[in-house]
Amino acid sequence: MPLNSESHPRRRARGCAAPTALLGIVLLGGSLFGGGPAQAAAAAPPPLLLGTAWYPEQWPESRWPKDLALMQAAHIRVVRVGEFAWSTFEPRQGVYRFGWLERAIAEAARHHIFVVIGTPTAAPPAWLTSRYPQTLRVHADGRRAQHGNRQQFSFSSPLYRKLCRDIAARLAQHFGHNPDVIGWQIDNEMGPPSFDAGTRRRFHAWLRRKYHTIAALNRHWTTAYWSETYDHFRQVPLRAQGENPGLLLDFKRFVSATWASYVENQVRAIRRAAAPRQFITTNTTHWGDQFDQYAISRELTLAAWDDYVPDGHFHWLENAVQDDLVRGYKRRDFWVMETQPAFVDWAPVNAALPPYRMRELAWQDVGHGANAVLYWQWRSALNGQEQYDGTLVGPDGEPVPAYRVVQAIGAQFALAGAALAGTTPRSRVAMLQSYASRWAIDFQRQTVRFGVVHEFTAFYQPLERFAQSVDVISPRAPLGRYRLVVAPALNVLSRAEARHLAAYVRAGGHLVLGPRTGMKDPYDALWPGRQPGPLVPLLGGHVGQYYSLLKPVPLAGRLGSGQASVWAETLVPQAPDTRVLMRYGKSNGWLDGKPAIITRRVGKGSITYIGAWLDPPLMSAVLDDLARAANVHPFIPGVARNVEVCERLGNGKRVWILINHGRKRHSVRLPAPASPLLTGGPARRTVKLAPHEVSVLLAPLT
Ligand code: GAL
Repeated sequence: MPLNSESHPRRRARGCAAPTALLGIVLLGGSLFGGGPAQAAAAAPPPLLLGTAWYPEQWPESRWPKDLALMQAAHIRVVRVGEFAWSTFEPRQGVYRFGWLERAIAEAARHHIFVVIGTPTAAPPAWLTSRYPQTLRVHADGRRAQHGNRQQFSFSSPLYRKLCRDIAARLAQHFGHNPDVIGWQIDNEMGPPSFDAGTRRRFHAWLRRKYHTIAALNRHWTTAYWSETYDHFRQVPLRAQGENPGLLLDFKRFVSATWASYVENQVRAIRRAAAPRQFITTNTTHWGDQFDQYAISRELTLAAWDDYVPDGHFHWLENAVQDDLVRGYKRRDFWVMETQPAFVDWAPVNAALPPYRMRELAWQDVGHGANAVLYWQWRSALNGQEQYDGTLVGPDGEPVPAYRVVQAIGAQFALAGAALAGTTPRSRVAMLQSYASRWAIDFQRQTVRFGVVHEFTAFYQPLERFAQSVDVISPRAPLGRYRLVVAPALNVLSRAEARHLAAYVRAGGHLVLGPRTGMKDPYDALWPGRQPGPLVPLLGGHVGQYYSLLKPVPLAGRLGSGQASVWAETLVPQAPDTRVLMRYGKSNGWLDGKPAIITRRVGKGSITYIGAWLDPPLMSAVLDDLARAANVHPFIPGVARNVEVCERLGNGKRVWILINHGRKRHSVRLPAPASPLLTGGPARRTVKLAPHEVSVLLAPLT
């Protein structure tokens, strides 16, 4: 999996309109308004769900019982339906056909399968875009999107939003009290903004609300530079690249606010009609930074993401960090709304995950807080742009090899699910992830090698190995429960955030800052007081100068020795009690002998600044030492490097999930006897893990 979202070949264009195969067969009517037939209360869904994306609208109804029986036999307990079915739901404006979905849900229920309904707004039907071409998205170069493919709408269009609200409301009126419908997904993998005239006007209105006067905007963006001074808000260009950093950052914030209100529009429509027990989520992408995920998540009940490993190379720590990132969107358990049955169809080489990796991935998701894992997709549409993507059954409707693997995972979920009910990961270590900082560095990388996600992951890996659980959260989240808080590149740091971090340190917390932290204020302007900006007084030191590196440079100190690459900052201690932990060795003449890591105790807490991107062994040595000093302990000490340990706590239970990601056998000595749930048998102190084996254990609370 590529480390950098920015280099991720996330989406390639897909040529033509969404399939509406067999439309005629499935358009069998259905009541027009509200309610749906009265139904008896369904049993509660199991606490851990295996599922799949199912597209009944693409198949004759006579086929559904066979599909659902096969799903049931694979322990599938949830299907997500409908998220691309607008042309089937509403074949003509105002003509609604929900009967088919009602019958599909009833048939699923007969097979003990629950349903999540996706609002179909990622793929507007042809009648909509021909009647309302003004709802089509405009690309950054001014070209208007044509109908076809998906995501061709303008996210800010009031008209498009009205149409979305209508279809979402109709669906909620119809299915909002259906006992077998447990939740809703808004849209699908939202992402691209639009550069149409209406969006531009709304950007200007947004800027006006934020700055009140154009003079304030000019001041914060330092527009005297290059004669950028504006006389009116309406002169500000709508551009996502190559502009003043203040403008670029505000554009991303505006995009985030616009997507947030896009979500809210549908959430409100659903909430008005649906039972509160039905959750509302949306599915997000790998490290997606098209908008601020925390802003979008505010309106949702829970977060969900699509966990894909397009090139088939599963690296457990690189996947784990993304689970933790998504758990941090709402600081609670989450769903994996899509993952691959072996392979996808959108990477340069769509290599298959080996069967054992599919199992490792699913259990890792659960270990990090997922309560559902759904495979995309059940069966390929016979035509449509994704004919090559992995499925669980083939075009003939019979299982393909991935089916058996998923079935085995489902059997394990069924065995361990009850123990996991009400549990969630509890971390003592947090990493701070800020969209503003990611964007700001990406606008001006200074070295192309400074991938923010890459750097974040470089810090995450040793922390996760050491602590066995890391929360990835916004810098504004409460910090009281953490012994150690690490901010790898908190480039944009507001005074309020700095106060929040300083309060954490003063209350006894241990804060570690990484390179490029505290360089910019919230307008993406340089802090005049040098890095880390408003935290300079607490640190008792600052960054003297930063350098992009062509070659690694040596550094050494009390915590070991090694090399820095990509980026190095010289640090200047100012306070008498600010200590130097590491210095650069002889290198490029600028860095030689200068401090690379400094630290200061503040009461029982501490603040440490790491000015360089350290090589992996040195990063481990430094972070392990800082974690130990912060009184952080692993749940299960002494495990082999390739064994992942996850702990979920709650409801009076402690569950350990051990995953051997390696090719060797390993024994794990547990701190207390625990009962193996997948194999059965008595409680034990030692667990033997075969290569790639997963063990789920119910442990005593103390
Ligand atoms: C997802 C998307 C699905 C499907 C899948 C193919 O990102 O949400 O609709 O396109 O990729 O792998």
